[in-house]
Amino acid sequence: MSLILAIESSCDEMAMAVLKDKREFLSSVVASQIDVHALYGGVVPEIASRKHVECVSLVLKETLKQAKISIDEIDAVAVTKGPGLVGSLHIGLQAAKTIAMAYHKPLIGVHHIAGHIYANNYEQDMIYPSLCLVVSGGHSELVLLKAPFEFEVIGTTLDDAVGEAYDKVGRVLNLPYPGGPVIDKMASMGNHIYDLPIPLDDDSYNFSFSGLKSAVINLNHKANQRGEIINKDDLATSFQDVVIEILVNKTIRGAKAYGVKQVMLAGGVSANRGLRKAMEIAVNKLDEVELLLPPMSCCTDNAMMIALAAKEMYDLKMFSDLSLGIKPNIDL
Ligand code: KG4
Ligand code: ZN
Repeated sequence: MSLILAIESSCDEMAMAVLKDKREFLSSVVASQIDVHALYGGVVPEIASRKHVECVSLVLKETLKQAKISIDEIDAVAVTKGPGLVGSLHIGLQAAKTIAMAYHKPLIGVHHIAGHIYANNYEQDMIYPSLCLVVSGGHSELVLLKAPFEFEVIGTTLDDAVGEAYDKVGRVLNLPYPGGPVIDKMASMGNHIYDLPIPLDDDSYNFSFSGLKSAVINLNHKANQRGEIINKDDLATSFQDVVIEILVNKTIRGAKAYGVKQVMLAGGVSANRGLRKAMEIAVNKLDEVELLLPPMSCCTDNAMMIALAAKEMYDLKMFSDLSLGIKPNIDL
């Protein structure tokens, strides 16, 4: 039996969760600051860390209350060590280190992307070797997992992350922040009528989305100059179709080349309904390869995903000592 308290504060959410054994969540609390940052069209790091300071104790109290446990009952405290915003990461890490020191509990420092990937363990065990497409606001990566916690990044973004491209396109089209979920919804209502460039369709597993993002922005700008009205739903569909095509193509090519048994999605953009559907269709065409998707509740940043990764690390005895510092740019 194990009880793990997990803390995630790498960006604009202060989240905590208590995981019992492998996948029984006793609580999960997310204090979102999205309304504050929406006023600025994106996350303001200084505001994010100040808000984290204000709510960290309250979130801890609520998480333990919902779990109906006292803090000394936990077996370990896990925390996101990076990558992320420096100030935001610090607040979560200091809270975790304080708990570890005061209550003599082991500390587990979790890589944020490992958390996103292990969100896939929410309902069933991951099988290896596995290929995970990690798509979030800060990352677009293809990660090969040969065994638990043996990661190999086979492809990465050369410029903008997918979520970042979604959010920037959303801003130019005057959509509410964050643009990703809104564009996803609009894309289901429009038609693919705009001709946009396919981004970096080469033999590598790398991604590039800044050219596509700029093409959408230019198209919108030129139409505005000419006084033409852009159909935003159609533009959303055209943009999303191109994004999905490249993500699916590279993932499927990687799955075949590395002979994996499983394909997974991870990160905030894995909540995208178009991407989930297209990946399902593509993986179904492969022989003896399964698709594993994180539940919608575990796609965007939360502490359940950190707890699921931490449980694997706990079993593998991958503990950190109290000298653990934040790693804003750490590799997986
Ligand atoms: O994983 P996450 O919560 O934070 C990072 O680690 O970056 O991902 C947030 C990103 C944002 O860019 C947001 O627009 C995007 O995930 N996102 C989506 C959808 N839901 C969230 N993008 C496309 N379609 C969605 N349904
Ligand atoms: Zn994330």
